[in-house]
Amino acid sequence: MQVKSVGVYGLVFGLALGGFAVADPVDDVLVIDEELQITTRTNSVEGHPLPEVISGWHYRSDETRALEADSFDNPGMLGVEDGESIWHKVEGTKGNSCASCHNDAAVSMKGVGARYPKWDEKSQRPINIEGQINACRVENMDAEPYPFDKGGQKPLTAYIKHQSLGMPVEIDLSEGDMQQWWDDGKETYYKRTGQLNLSCAGCHEQNNGKNIRADHLSQGNVNGFPTYRLKQNKLISLHNRFRGCIRDTRAEFPPAFSDVLMGLEVYTTWRSTGLSVETPAVRQ
Ligand code: HEC
Ligand code: HEC
Repeated sequence: MQVKSVGVYGLVFGLALGGFAVADPVDDVLVIDEELQITTRTNSVEGHPLPEVISGWHYRSDETRALEADSFDNPGMLGVEDGESIWHKVEGTKGNSCASCHNDAAVSMKGVGARYPKWDEKSQRPINIEGQINACRVENMDAEPYPFDKGGQKPLTAYIKHQSLGMPVEIDLSEGDMQQWWDDGKETYYKRTGQLNLSCAGCHEQNNGKNIRADHLSQGNVNGFPTYRLKQNKLISLHNRFRGCIRDTRAEFPPAFSDVLMGLEVYTTWRSTGLSVETPAVRQ
């Protein structure tokens, strides 16, 4: 069968999205280790296009949801443990580890991951946890910054975010130029790109709940990152996920931590406001 370029769009929506039954997000409650209640559905923040924000957890299978409910079974917790040992490791020429200055992460990092990305005066742009780790490595340890997704970047990010497990995502748009980055991120979110002419909103806002290529489309919330993906058997960073989603539309994908993806991180984190931090979430 020959598919003309016009047909590709119809093929994706016709076969993959339209052709399958819409499956509602599963009605279930996430309590981790039978003690920590996680907010996985909540009223959305003012100005949000959807009435309710729903965690990606509700769109996964029974088995996958169960893995996240038990921190012993959650394979992402191995990454968090790696992060903990890196936290205590001396690196760089100043003889410091993260713990030399920040001591017990359970105290010093509690709530921090829930508030990022935030405005960074020094670089005059938003900074995420990965960026803050690198800033501390360079300025406070005299160590090399981690390249994207390399070295301790994912485990340390997971370790720091995990200290906010269960706390609501809430970022501050009033500092510096955060509002401008939000605007730019929103523009990216609604911009149709690639051969499939799809925007983030085309999948995650207009078609969440539908099935695409054996995957149940969620709202694309960011509260669980880095997440453990069973398909890839490892922790996946947020910017890797962004790039994967953009690549799936057959568009050129921008570099990690570029202005485009930082704007997208600001905007999508705002969309996830009120959901609990789930790091490390478990996904398909
Ligand atoms: C020599 C001391 C020092 C070392 C070593 C150090 N930091 Fe920092 N860190 C700071 C200071 C100072 C700040 C800025 C003040 C603040 O926000 O607490 C900071 C801020 C941070 C923040 C942001 C906190 C917030 O509330 O926004 C994170 C996250 C962080 N550091 C992580 C790390 C990690 C991870 C390491 C190890 C790779 C590390 N730091 C090593 C001194 C240090
Ligand atoms: C062709 C459809 C499609 C497009 C377009 C798309 N995504 Fe996705 N995205 C998916 C699928 C499928 C998944 C995996 C299942 C799920 O959670 O929705 C996913 C997952 C995600 C997740 C992880 C959600 C979680 O709970 O772990 C995020 C975040 C995300 N996408 C963001 C984006 C952003 C930002 C864009 C625009 C740059 C985008 N996506 C564009 C299909 C798409």
